[in-house]
This record gives sequence, C-alpha cells and structure tokens, in this order.
Amino acid sequence: VRAYLDHAATTPLSQPARDAMMAAFDVVGNGSAIHSDGRAARKLVEESRERVASALGVGPTEVIFTSGGTESDNLAIKGLWWSRIAAEPTRRRVLCTRIEHHAVLDSVAWLGAHEGAEVVWLDVDSDGLVDPEQVARELDAGPAALATVMWANNEVGVVQPIEAISFLCADHGVPLHVDAVQAVGSVEVEPHLSTTFASSAHKLGGPVGIGALIAGREVALTPLAHGGGQERKVRSGTFNVAGIAAFAAAVEYAVETLPERSKRLCALRDQLIADVRAVVPDMRVNGALGGPAVRLPGNAHLSFPGADGEALLMLLDAADVSVSTGSACTAGVTEPSYVLTAMGLDPGLARGSLRISLGSSSTRADVDQLIAALPEAVARARRVAAGDTSAALAGARAV
Ligand SMILES: Cc1ncc(COP(=O)(O)O)c(C=O)c1O
Repeated sequence: VRAYLDHAATTPLSQPARDAMMAAFDVVGNGSAIHSDGRAARKLVEESRERVASALGVGPTEVIFTSGGTESDNLAIKGLWWSRIAAEPTRRRVLCTRIEHHAVLDSVAWLGAHEGAEVVWLDVDSDGLVDPEQVARELDAGPAALATVMWANNEVGVVQPIEAISFLCADHGVPLHVDAVQAVGSVEVEPHLSTTFASSAHKLGGPVGIGALIAGREVALTPLAHGGGQERKVRSGTFNVAGIAAFAAAVEYAVETLPERSKRLCALRDQLIADVRAVVPDMRVNGALGGPAVRLPGNAHLSFPGADGEALLMLLDAADVSVSTGSACTAGVTEPSYVLTAMGLDPGLARGSLRISLGSSSTRADVDQLIAALPEAVARARRVAAGDTSAALAGARAV
C-alpha cells in the first residue's frame, strides 16, 4: 500500500462530497434555463451557495463560483486592479508577498509587466512570516491599488497575520486579497477580513475544478471572461452543478470535522517530526512550528542537509511514499524553492527539502512507512547531491 503524504497538493474526495456529486450528475438542466429542469438545477446551485456561505460565515450573495484557486486568484487580482485603476489611475502600487502561490505571484508579476503596476514585494522573516510593520510602511509610501497576502503558505504551511494586515489595508482604503486555498477546511478563517478571499474544493475534500471567490456585492471586479453573465456577471459560464453541489458538501463536512481533525493532525505531525529527527538527527524544520494559529496542522516541511530533494522524492516514491518538494527541476538541475529562498534558507539546504503533508485519511501507519524508508533514502540522496547519481538512484522509479 502507498503512504499518501501530499495532501497539500490535493486531498481525497470526502464521502459527503462524493455522494453529493453522484446525485447531482442526475440533474440534467442547465441552471440558466427557465424550464422546470433548468430551475431544478438552479435550485441545487443556490442551495449549495447557501451551504458554502454558511460554512464560511458569509452571505450567499458574496459567493462567486469559479473553477478553483487559480481562477479565483486571477479574478481577484486582475479584476480588482482593472476596477481600481479605472477609478483611481494614480494608485498603481500592488503589494504582494514573495511567498504567494504562482497563481497570485504570476498574476501580480503580469500586471507589472503588461499593465503598468508598480509591484512592491513584501519580505518574510526566517519563520516565513510577513511583518505588518513593513506592510504599514509600504502602504504609507505611496498610493496602492491593492494588496495580496495568503492566509497560509502552501509549502511551509505558515499562517500569516491577516488580521493586523487587514486593519492596515482598511485604514488606507486599499483592497486586500487573501488566497486561503490552503487554509479553508484546515484552520479557522474569517473571509470578512479581506476584500476578496479565494478557496478551492480539491484542497478540502471536494473535486478538482471548482472553487469560490468570496467578494461582497459592493466590490467592483472587472470580469476576466465574458459570456452568459452568470455569477453576478463577474464569472460567466454554465453552472458546474455537480461540482458546486460537491464543493458545498465538502466544505460543510470539512468545517464540521475541523476541530477534531486539527487536533489529530497536529499531534500526528509533531510525532512525524520527532520520528524523523530520531532517524535523521541533523534534519531541520522550516517555518514557524506551533498549533493551528501558527501553522497548518498537517504540514511538516523538512530540510535534510547535504541531500538532493528531488532524488529523495523519487527514492521515497519507490518505497511507496508520496511527498513533494517545492523546488522546480529545470534541465536536471534542482532550483531551490522561492519560498525557502525568501525565508533566507541556504540554497544548498533548500535543495534538500521535502514537504510532507497530512490530511483526513492520514494514519500512524503512513508515518511509519515514511520513517522506515527515510534513512536509506536520505543516505542515497546525499550521494546524489555529492555527484554519485547513477548508483544512488538505482532502484528508484523513472519519472
Ligand atoms: C495557496 C494556493 N493557491 C492557489 C492554488 C491553486 O488552486 P487550484 O489548484 O484550485 O487552481 C493552490 C494549489 O496548489 C494553492 O496551494
């Protein structure tokens, strides 16, 4: 059996989401059609919208269904920018942390490259945290169109001081986008601290390809795609009825089961870290460690000095353990992750890092399987880093 320890990439469909999806596949109407079949589909969409809203503590009119996190982030950032710049052309600064997911990072960089945005990159400290004082300084330094800060980071799992940043942005009249894709269903969130708030179903037990952007009705968003005018004319496209119904069931279930799961996964994660340390004593943990106010419960991000992270991933894969590295492999050379680089981690250490992420289906047995395979994998990944590629990789699965 495989030990799946990559829940931050995607986590299995929960039973309530699966049931809701299967039932919704039998609903045939286009939710925009006015006959009874269409109205039945629309009813399911609107009931699901209410369930998503109530699970997130917002009003149903604030929920804009999208295809997921990437689209929600793009819609928020470009949509806010175009609306703001039309109203106040001199507000050209866009504040963005250096550790955002590419969906945010590349949207902001694109506005800088093509739309005349003046991008201000916000630093993080060695724990991965944004300093609200830097946010305050940058808000004072010039008029900003918007700011974007993630709730929790997808690599190191660190939870940002959103409340403090929210108050600062509100004081300066600057809309704040929060990418909460990793946070919703894993820690407690408050969408009303931000102007726009992104979430994605497949990170919380729903299917891939559905998510939401939470935005008050008064928030002006320029649409990215034009068409049938669904979702307050901000996000056109035929309703993904089955996806929406499954998302509603998933988020409801995730929020309902959060306290118990959070406690269980924090304990399992801390045990995992202790067990890894027992077999690889010079391992280091990246990012602030602590309870759910500090770090996502299921996230362990570890560096193995002198090891090659990609090799480690492949060797563990060969031992039926799925983990992830945040680094990109370009032409056979592992680039250290930009998140770890922003945290000031030595590039060599950053290259030898793994993200191990637990979720609802994770058990002690998964952790044991990792621990059994780890010492040998680390030893061989160290030989790879030292240049002995062929010998150390023998037996690893080709990718
Ligand atoms: C923080 C964060 N933002 C955005 C995304 C993109 O979400 P989706 O896969 O739904 O497009 C992810 C997914 O990896 C993520 O972790």
